[in-house]
Amino acid sequence: MAGHEIRRARPDDYDDLIGVVDNWWGRTVVHNLPRLFLDHFHRTSLIATDEDGISGFLVGFGSPSDADAAYIHFVAVRPDARKVGLGRTLYDEFFEIVRADGRKVVTAITSPANFTSIDFHRSLGFTVTGPVADYNGPGRSLITFERKL
Ligand SMILES: CC(C)(COP(=O)(O)OP(=O)(O)OC[C@H]1O[C@@H](n2cnc3c(N)ncnc32)[C@H](O)[C@@H]1OP(=O)(O)O)[C@@H](O)C(=O)NCCC(=O)NCCS
Repeated sequence: MAGHEIRRARPDDYDDLIGVVDNWWGRTVVHNLPRLFLDHFHRTSLIATDEDGISGFLVGFGSPSDADAAYIHFVAVRPDARKVGLGRTLYDEFFEIVRADGRKVVTAITSPANFTSIDFHRSLGFTVTGPVADYNGPGRSLITFERKL
């Protein structure tokens, strides 16, 4: 994408990502991104950079248990780089990677309050379901997303 280079993630990207996530989300989310995601899923995760450094990233993986399924755990674009298609480009690149691995469906989840995420996923062709009550335990409702590849 113009102005941004996209590459596969490396385990040592973790330290840069964990330093920006709370700021990029506008709330505390560091607990949702433990180091294991970069250590074990860097092959299917993506980093975007521009002249100012990391401009966006996607953490996702193919399911080790369901050969048809892939899952996107985290996506974020630096606030000043939003609304010009970088999030969509990261998703498209992830779809290519997991399609090549034989995956047929991609899923993700978000909080019912994250209207940006809901609109973003709807724009990218995901089916939006929920809020699903008690999805992650009592009182923890979530929105689920699903898109065929
Ligand atoms: C969600 C996020 C990754 C979108 O990244 P982005 O680069 O701005 O998105 P894009 O420019 O590629 O937009 C893709 C589509 O989503 C829609 N979209 C993006 N941001 C939107 C917003 N704030 N409100 C409504 N729709 C939005 C766009 O309209 C676009 O649709 P279109 O192509 O049909 O016009 C970014 O806003 C972000 O990092 N948010 C904070 C972190 C977060 O909430 N992540 C998701 C939950 S895990």
